[in-house]
Amino acid sequence: MGLPSLDTLRSWFAAYCRGYYGDDPAARRNIVLKEGHTARVCDNMDRLTASLDLDSHERHCAAVVALFHDLGRFEQYRRFGTFRDADSVDHAQLGVRVLAEEGLLRDADAADRAVILQSIALHNRFALPDGLDYRGLLLARLIRDADKLDIWQVFVEFYAQPEEERASAVGLGFPDEPHCSAEVVRRVLSGEMVRLDMLRTLNDFKLLQLSWVFDLNFPASYRIAAERDLVGQLALTLPQEESIERAVAVVRRRLVQCMKEDVAV
Ligand SMILES: [Fe+2]
Repeated sequence: MGLPSLDTLRSWFAAYCRGYYGDDPAARRNIVLKEGHTARVCDNMDRLTASLDLDSHERHCAAVVALFHDLGRFEQYRRFGTFRDADSVDHAQLGVRVLAEEGLLRDADAADRAVILQSIALHNRFALPDGLDYRGLLLARLIRDADKLDIWQVFVEFYAQPEEERASAVGLGFPDEPHCSAEVVRRVLSGEMVRLDMLRTLNDFKLLQLSWVFDLNFPASYRIAAERDLVGQLALTLPQEESIERAVAVVRRRLVQCMKEDVAV
C-alpha cells in the first residue's frame, strides 16, 4: 500500500517510453529527448529537495512528480506530432489523465495522490493560482524550477548541435529571424516574465526562457543555473544588440542576487 517505490515507477516509465519509439528516426529523437529531459528533471528535483532538507516521504512525492510531470508528452506527440500545447492539447492535463488511466497511484494515500496530480497539472502554467496549501505550493514550485532548469539546458544543447541533428520539436516552430520583438525585450528589461503569446521569433523564445529567472523559487535553483552558466550560454546565441545585452544584464543581476537569498517556502 501507499506510493509505489521509485524503482517500480521508474521501470514502468522506461517501458512506457519504449512503447512510443516507433520506426521514424525524427519522431524517435523527439521521444528520446523527452525521456532524457525527465531523467534530468528528476536529478534537479533531488538536488532541490536535498537543499530544503525535506523528509523522506515528501522527497518521494516530489520525485514522483518529477518522473511523471511530462507523461502527457508521449501521447501528445503520438496524436499531434508536436510539443506545442497551443496547437494540440495541454500536455500537463493529458499527463494527469494518463496517470489516472494507468492506475499507478491507485494505492497511494488520497492526499498524496491529489497533491501529486495537482503539481503535474500546474507545472506548465504561466503562474500558479492563489489559494494553494503549503504542500501544494511546495511541490508545484519545486517541479516548476526543476523543469525550467532542464528546459534551459535542452535549449542550450539544441543550439550547439548541427541543424540536421536537432530534434525538430524543440524550437516550437518559431522562425529563426535575427531579432527580438521590442515588447519582449521591454518585458525582460522591466524584470517581468515574457508570455508565450508575445513571441514572434525563436530569439523571442530565448528571451522568454531567460525571463524565467524572475520566476524561480529556491536559492538552489539559482545556484544550479549559475553553476551551469545557463544564462551565459543562452545569451551567446542571441543577436548582438544593445537593448538585448541590457536585458541579459538584468537577468544576470537577478540571478546573482537570488542565489544568496533565504529559502522562499
Ligand atoms: Fe512539461
